[in-house]
Amino acid sequence: MKQPIGIFDSGVGGLTVFREIRKNFPYEDIIYFGDTARVPYGPKSRNTIVEYSVQNARFLTQYGAKIIVVACNTSSAVALEHLQKNFSIPVIGVIESGAEAAVKATCNNKIGVIGTDGTIRSNAYFNAISALFSKMEIHSRACPLFVSLVEEGWENHEVTEIIIKEYLTPLLAKKIDTLVLGCTHYPILKPAIRKIVGNEIALIDSAEALALQLQKLIPKQEIEQDGKDTFFVSDNEEKFRKIASHILGRNIQTLMNVKLGESWYIPL
Ligand code: DGL
Repeated sequence: MKQPIGIFDSGVGGLTVFREIRKNFPYEDIIYFGDTARVPYGPKSRNTIVEYSVQNARFLTQYGAKIIVVACNTSSAVALEHLQKNFSIPVIGVIESGAEAAVKATCNNKIGVIGTDGTIRSNAYFNAISALFSKMEIHSRACPLFVSLVEEGWENHEVTEIIIKEYLTPLLAKKIDTLVLGCTHYPILKPAIRKIVGNEIALIDSAEALALQLQKLIPKQEIEQDGKDTFFVSDNEEKFRKIASHILGRNIQTLMNVKLGESWYIPL
């Protein structure tokens, strides 16, 4: 039976993860769910994020997903363990692979981590990096405005430069040599961030790191499908379509609207 890779995110940002997975697995079928009706997850409480994440994962399993990729950093930070305990298929998040890539990249053992409020509040990156090297100096900062800048398509806007500078100056003052882009939207800002931080700082894109980790979980002999993409959103298809073509550099074909509610809900 054909079983797709299932990916979910709070909205469009997870397409940066989809993009990397598609690049690495051209023949796998992929089903993507973006919870555009309930985005953003970043400022929400732990319980709400877990509840939404369970519903999203349950939806993907109903579509026969063989593995669930939690593209959303906030869901990965807050709900991954719960999902791994409650689903019988592998569930993989972006935090661990991002943490591993950062630890490999740093030379001076000073790492900066940026993400949504929810991700930074959870300390998930801090814990994952410390578990790999307990003496690592880690400086974290929530950059909530970055998500809106990307959704507005303002990655080249002068305002974006000013905001990036404002958020990152305290991290640069700590002499970090590695910066984890701990949010689905931030890779889109990579060129603008690069401009502010210069060429000496390694920028860790969790999406790239996750796609590489996935290679270990999905054996090559299983790669026999058509490379079909199916996208679902819970609201606002047209906005999703527009941002998707911007992020992916091509138009998306199959896009459907689905409402997730009680019927997809597993009690916590
Ligand atoms: N997808 C979220 C993340 O990676 C960013 C957008 C949101 O706050 O929902 O953390």
